[in-house]
Amino acid sequence: MEIIPLGPGFAAEMRGVTLADVASDDAAYAATRTAFEEHSVLVFRDQEVTDELQLAFSRRFGPPEVTKVGSQGTGSHFVILSTIGPDGSVVPPDHRLSLRNKANQLWHTDSSFKRVPALTSILSARVIPARGGETEYVSTRLAFERLDTGLRERLERSFAWHDYAHSRGQIAPGLASPEERAALPPQCWRMVWRNPVNGRGAIYLASHAYAVEGMDAAAGKKLIEELMELATAPGTSYLHQWRSGDVVMWDNRATMHRGRPWPAHEARLMIRTTISASEADGVGSMRPPSSQAAE
Ligand SMILES: [Fe+2]
Repeated sequence: MEIIPLGPGFAAEMRGVTLADVASDDAAYAATRTAFEEHSVLVFRDQEVTDELQLAFSRRFGPPEVTKVGSQGTGSHFVILSTIGPDGSVVPPDHRLSLRNKANQLWHTDSSFKRVPALTSILSARVIPARGGETEYVSTRLAFERLDTGLRERLERSFAWHDYAHSRGQIAPGLASPEERAALPPQCWRMVWRNPVNGRGAIYLASHAYAVEGMDAAAGKKLIEELMELATAPGTSYLHQWRSGDVVMWDNRATMHRGRPWPAHEARLMIRTTISASEADGVGSMRPPSSQAAE
């Protein structure tokens, strides 16, 4: 097995190991898990992916999420990211699927708006456009380490509110449906996620974050905006250009990502599996003290 660094201080390609190896072999899983904790984004090329294999690989890392109401794939372990409508043709730009895809182009981490946040997302390319449609990643761990000590300490004691309706509202009012709002009440998380394996902290933010606990609305919004800008500063990202057979997994505790646009008439189909964070992944330390006491 070979690990080839790809990005500015994070992200790596895994060579000589397949999804099937990780799914079936303890040593292959252990080596991949170690690389995941270290590099935050792992790329596997030339994989022969089926839904079953992707799920078997994903399950190694923890319990798979069940896809939420309102998303394609709801009730299953798969999120279907596509702008291909039920009749097999590409949907128009004002279609709900296109608007959701636009929301995906805001910097975010997956599932910070859920009751249980995500450890990792695994994305496989099934149909890719001839150009565009990349996924861009930044390391919020490296961003955290760029902050001065005073701000780092302050963020470790601060908590931010995350709401799915907030990120969707930035694209179109009402893009989050009443059912989605009801199923996904706002969640409050510590603004730094410390990795229990290596002890390194990462800024935990996303387009879903809208307020900082204990700060007035304007000041909280400003702090979130400043941190988002700092975390996504030019020159700090890894842009993944998808090839057929690619599978990418990322650490939602230590990265943010965004989809990039592609020509609207071209089809693109990606399948995501998402693994919930467990106690061993540090989720307990992310909850505000009041809710820890209540549990
Ligand atoms: Fe995402």
